[in-house]
Amino acid sequence: MSGESSVTTSRALGEDVAAVRRLLLRMTIVSADTTMDVEALGGGVSSDIVKVTLPGRTLCVKRALPKLRVAADWHAPVVRNRYELAWLRAAAGIVPGHVPAVLGEDAEAGAFAMEWLDPGDHPVWKALLRDGHVDVDTAAAVGDVLGRIHAATADRPAVAAAFATDAIFAAIRLEPYLLATGARHPDLAATLERLATVTARTKRVLVHGDYSPKNILIGPAGPVVLDAECAWYGDPAFDLAFVLNHLLLKGVWRPAARGRYLDAYAALVDAYRQHVAWEPWPALDARTAALLPGLLLGRVDGRSPAEYLITAADRDHVRHFARTHLASAVPNVATLAARWARAA
Ligand SMILES: Nc1ncnc2c1ncn2[C@@H]1O[C@H](COP(=O)(O)OP(=O)(O)OP(=O)(O)O)[C@@H](O)[C@H]1O
Ligand SMILES: [Mg+2]
Repeated sequence: MSGESSVTTSRALGEDVAAVRRLLLRMTIVSADTTMDVEALGGGVSSDIVKVTLPGRTLCVKRALPKLRVAADWHAPVVRNRYELAWLRAAAGIVPGHVPAVLGEDAEAGAFAMEWLDPGDHPVWKALLRDGHVDVDTAAAVGDVLGRIHAATADRPAVAAAFATDAIFAAIRLEPYLLATGARHPDLAATLERLATVTARTKRVLVHGDYSPKNILIGPAGPVVLDAECAWYGDPAFDLAFVLNHLLLKGVWRPAARGRYLDAYAALVDAYRQHVAWEPWPALDARTAALLPGLLLGRVDGRSPAEYLITAADRDHVRHFARTHLASAVPNVATLAARWARAA
């Protein structure tokens, strides 16, 4: 997420080898004299993420920033790291091999270490999509992994209790995407509020919360899912709408591949729905189709606009489509995709 004003200059892990060593010492992964090389991997405003090369092995350390880099992204970063770790562990038991293995944890510091996945054979899905590599089997696998996680956690009180992150989810997902967008579209504000309320109240599965192509690596054995800082026990429609939203928007970014993104969208939905047994698929389909235009509008006029919607014409196109389908929702995601294809 982005924000306006810098409030602190806490030292990045990538520049602080001693701090990385202290974390790995506490995780008993290194000793005081292990040689190591530390490289920053970017990371967002609430986390630091580094690649650590040790003799004979490479790993990745992610740490919540003790203070935030921007004022707008304020919400409890250390706690988010703990939920991310809990999500990785839960998912590892359901879809082994589709999340990085956790190697160590320092709960006090809000940090964990995980297996390093080499970008050479684990490209980010977003980059593949951007470059026109739109593989329907990959999209199906992304839907399958999500469906398996949702199905395995559906109506499980212990999982619900472990991920009772309603306040965080409201602050970092529902507010920026839906409620902030309503402030820019007063005639649709009540509709967007209703979508936020329905989403918040639908507590059925373990939601990833940021199921986006930028957080999914495509490895030799299929998708590997990262970045579960927004994990929440709630509405499966959120994850499904979130990832489908990206596949619609990619068609604005790369118009030549628009049809292939829609093939990927259909394949993802098809694979996902095979796992839906906790509620009738038409009910979940309808919630997803209602929510998706809200998320679309959120990427134009919410707090986290898509960086690749550059021209006013592109933004107007998405805005018009989203507004039309917020005002009058379609009953399922297939109809929404057909309308999107026609609107091109
Ligand atoms: N285990 C890993 N192995 C290899 N690369 C990784 C691993 N984890 C993360 N990365 C790389 O670091 C990037 C950022 O990771 P992640 O999304 O978890 O951090 P973030 O701070 O939430 O970043 P952002 O705000 O950009 O989403 C990923 O897109 C990926 O390229
Ligand atoms: Mg990320």
